[in-house]
Amino acid sequence: MEVEDMKLSITPVQGRFVAEVGSVDLSQPMDDAHFARIHDAFLEHSILVFRGQRLSNEQHIAFSRRFGELEIHTARHWLLPEHPEILVLSNRGEEGTRPIVNGGAYWHSDITYKAKPPLGSLLYALEVPPEGGDTLYADMYAAYASLDDETKARIDDLQAIHRYGDRYQLMAREDKDRPALTPEQLAEVPDVVHPVVRTHPETGRKVLFVNEGFTVGIVGMPEAEGKALLERLFEHSVQPGHVYRHRWQAGDLVMWDNRCTMHRATEYDLRYARAMHRTTVQGDRPA
Ligand code: SIN
Repeated sequence: MEVEDMKLSITPVQGRFVAEVGSVDLSQPMDDAHFARIHDAFLEHSILVFRGQRLSNEQHIAFSRRFGELEIHTARHWLLPEHPEILVLSNRGEEGTRPIVNGGAYWHSDITYKAKPPLGSLLYALEVPPEGGDTLYADMYAAYASLDDETKARIDDLQAIHRYGDRYQLMAREDKDRPALTPEQLAEVPDVVHPVVRTHPETGRKVLFVNEGFTVGIVGMPEAEGKALLERLFEHSVQPGHVYRHRWQAGDLVMWDNRCTMHRATEYDLRYARAMHRTTVQGDRPA
């Protein structure tokens, strides 16, 4: 259903999973009533698309902060020195940040390797290639709901191990310029354990909460058996009926609920620039 008033429209673009928010300028201060509409839409849809924005770093941060405190990412070499709340995903780098050529190019939810993974992320496109460099999003409510009853019963009380270091190393093999994480950075991200099925803290809906990027095993299960189960769950999660593809235009801002989605960037021709800024809103401990 489309909801409209003088200042804001919310139009579903892929069933319940994604909505486009129109007639809103995120660079301007927003009153509480309009913010509440956006917040409600975020819980209803999981992914919100805002087209045609022109945001300074301060404005991007200010809008993101309406949702909560912001994360400062462990990999400091990708943070804007003056605005460490902004993670720069650019194959050219920017203002002293390191270029990144394969950032987010695997299915993941952001930072699930922390005890309190983020609530959500707000990715703003500054420059995009003529084709490719899309972002795919998987609906993890749908992934859970569409599992057969036997699998649900098998996984409902399981806990999974999440880790950053392995994924970072794997991506560094493809990107020789990636600096190694320092011992201090690695110490910030020890392994953590989260339920395989979490209940979304605001909607109360059940979510499959494992991701290919950072979930490395199942607590109390032999390694091979745990990996086989995870592989099956990953494959199930990203079947086409659960996935939205965002084709970026410069000026798009996409906000996703990290508690109930996964995402991955797709390939593009590296002769073209792709520059994105991400803020990440802190979340709570999954239960
Ligand atoms: C991310 O993984 O947060 C970024 C995805 C992208 O650059 O498309």
